[in-house]
Amino acid sequence: VDLSHGNTMALACVADAVVTLTDEAQLDVFMTSYANNSGHKPSLFVLSGGSNVLLPAELNAVVLQPQMRGIHLTTQTDDYVDIEVMAGENWHDLVVHTVEQGWYGLENLALIPGLTGAAPVQNIGAYGVQLEDCLQYVRAYHLPTQTWHRLSLTDCQFGYRDSIFKRTPNTWLISRVGFRLHTDTSRILANYGDVQTVAQRYAEQQHREQPTPADVMQAIIDIRQQKLPDPKQLPNCGSFFQNPIIPQAQFTALQQTYPAIVGYPMPEAMVKVAAGWLIEQAGLKGGGIAPIVTHQQQALVLTNHTPYRATQDDVATAQRYIAATVYEKFAIQLSREPVWINADGSIGYDEHVV
Ligand code: EPU
Repeated sequence: VDLSHGNTMALACVADAVVTLTDEAQLDVFMTSYANNSGHKPSLFVLSGGSNVLLPAELNAVVLQPQMRGIHLTTQTDDYVDIEVMAGENWHDLVVHTVEQGWYGLENLALIPGLTGAAPVQNIGAYGVQLEDCLQYVRAYHLPTQTWHRLSLTDCQFGYRDSIFKRTPNTWLISRVGFRLHTDTSRILANYGDVQTVAQRYAEQQHREQPTPADVMQAIIDIRQQKLPDPKQLPNCGSFFQNPIIPQAQFTALQQTYPAIVGYPMPEAMVKVAAGWLIEQAGLKGGGIAPIVTHQQQALVLTNHTPYRATQDDVATAQRYIAATVYEKFAIQLSREPVWINADGSIGYDEHVV
């Protein structure tokens, strides 16, 4: 089965088999026959929207694709609503839908590609908000024991672009995500970059003094459309590197040489450095190794200029070159952000490739 259209990086990939799941019971049925099959058991691999994975040219696994749909209102009060969203719902459409309903909290996460079920895996985050800020629970299937579980916020063990689902790969299949959203139109988070300015402009156009969550969403959609390539036009998998977290002392030393270096203070005397800035200063905005090069408007994003032909190997070549160039200049090691999938469906750990 050809999966080159099933990953937003548009890497060439052929998988042994694909099983599409449109309801939870199908998974029980599939897993029962899988467990009862006494012969060779193929490995299982869960693929959602394919927007944060680097697939191998040949994937020797059975690919499970959760595509259950539905958005259910479970509690409604004057101050908040609880909703339960099925894994196959498109993430951005969900964000727009909730804001239209007057349910707020997800607006800063507009225009992130992918499906809702994958959002908890890397605790998606943007413009000062992370998924964990609104998430209440996850319902997921534990593949090794074939049992359903409800994981609380703490069970999910969220961190920066991290969770239990990412740390124990090929273990969980997420089927539903529960959120608590609020109804207060004045509660917004717009202190990141240009968000406040752009949101204010939208508010004024509507003759409002203060931006609403809908204005913030519009602002973020604008900002993202300017900087981030649309995977449908230029295949990519979002930020390719994590923003590295380095000791304050190392950051201060770098500031002596590079006064413009961008960093955000973190707990425990650490600083999160903007990797996009490092890559740009290393002279690699738009650079890399063809066909995999960084985006002209955002150097943290790698783009694929020969869709459906370029392979995982091409990505590794470009990654190694970019990371080595940045390391030479700044002595900072960049780690990959999207998940590297091995040919047998297991997850690759060779993050430090220099
Ligand atoms: N910068 C440059 N040159 C570049 C890119 C960035 O100088 O080529 C500078 C910017 O001027 C800015 C700073 O770096 O001062 C940060 O840039 P930006 O606001 O674009 O955010 P980012 O740190 O590069 C992170 C997330 C994005 C998220 C944005 C907005 C990570 C790895 N990436 O990017 O997430 O949308 O913040 O919150 O944390 C993703 O994970 O796929 C993703 C797109």
